[in-house]
Amino acid sequence: MRIDETHRGWFILSIVIFGAATAVYVIYALAAPHGPSGGSTIGLVFGFTGFGFMIYAALLGARKKVPIMRLGRAQGWMRGHLWLGLLALPLILFHGGFHFGGLLTRILLWLLIITVLSGVFGAIIQHYLPTIILERVPMETIYDEIDRVREQLSAEAAGFIAELSGGGGGGPEAVEVAADDRLLAGGASAMRARGGGSIQYGLSEEQIEPVRAFFETEMLPFLKNPDAKGSRLGEDIRSNAAFTKLRMLVPAAAHPVIANLENLCEEERQLTRQARLHKLLHTWLLCHIPLSLALMVLSVFHAIIALRY
Ligand code: HEM
Ligand code: HEM
Repeated sequence: MRIDETHRGWFILSIVIFGAATAVYVIYALAAPHGPSGGSTIGLVFGFTGFGFMIYAALLGARKKVPIMRLGRAQGWMRGHLWLGLLALPLILFHGGFHFGGLLTRILLWLLIITVLSGVFGAIIQHYLPTIILERVPMETIYDEIDRVREQLSAEAAGFIAELSGGGGGGPEAVEVAADDRLLAGGASAMRARGGGSIQYGLSEEQIEPVRAFFETEMLPFLKNPDAKGSRLGEDIRSNAAFTKLRMLVPAAAHPVIANLENLCEEERQLTRQARLHKLLHTWLLCHIPLSLALMVLSVFHAIIALRY
């Protein structure tokens, strides 16, 4: 998810809550004869509110795992998660009066700080995930769909080659992929937009041979296995040079098709970058989730112990 205008409401609400809480805390801390403490009435209000925000944040996980709860506004939940999770930290600091206390509360506070910081880190990675590929699949499914998108890129490229040699349209393979793959509706329409119509290039087989050879020996292997080391198509600058060279080998009439092929390689590079970031995000979740679970369990302990004794 990106931190965009849709966050404005949450942002303003968070500022208001934070401002009000800070004002209450300052007045309360100055007035309290023995200084602020977690057990005072206001201290407890901060504790319960902060804990409530943490529970809301933790429910995101449950919401994802229980299919029925998945329906509706996942993005809305996620926005709430970010902002309320973030607010939990100052509220809990106000709750304890900025004291770290004994062993349990010290561990708790550090867990909270690390969980929130790790959350911010994850949100930043998500924010910068390249969005270009989004026209092909929705964000949530992208990781599972990467192989299919790769196949689609290959099929599209094959379609362009077929078109160049007079086959027209997107080529049989591309059409097949487009038809049987409703999930990738965005991709299919992109394909139509680019492949559109059977343009006659008026080029002989011989004239387009360099394009075909380039496609078969270099581009297709790259599209199929972009992680393999050594392909110049894997790097922006070298890919650029390769295509410039290819253009010089064929008549200008073929250049639009070459531009399409070049775009597909660019998309493949974006996809690879995206896959890497997703892997990173996945590893990151393996930190953020256990931390948050430990935090929630210990918080319940702390609340019970603190209220009992
Ligand atoms: C409903 C939830 C909570 C309740 C009822 C609660 C209750 C209390 C109470 C009664 C105290 C005062 C204990 C004392 O002075 O010895 C306290 C202190 C404190 N609580 Fe909580 N708490 C809650 C949630 C949390 C959470 C979620 C955290 C941290 C993640 C937290 C961190 C602290 C800290 C750091 C102190 C200060 C300890 C000190 O001054 O020695 N509390 N809490
Ligand atoms: C008390 C604080 C927090 C708790 C208990 C908490 C808990 C969780 C849990 C349980 C998940 C896993 C959801 C899943 O199953 O995929 C999660 C995901 C996430 N959290 Fe937090 N979190 C907290 C604070 C934050 C904060 C402050 C941020 C960012 C500012 C944040 C950002 C994220 C992000 C980006 C995800 C990944 C969501 C996705 O899968 O796309 N979290 N958090």
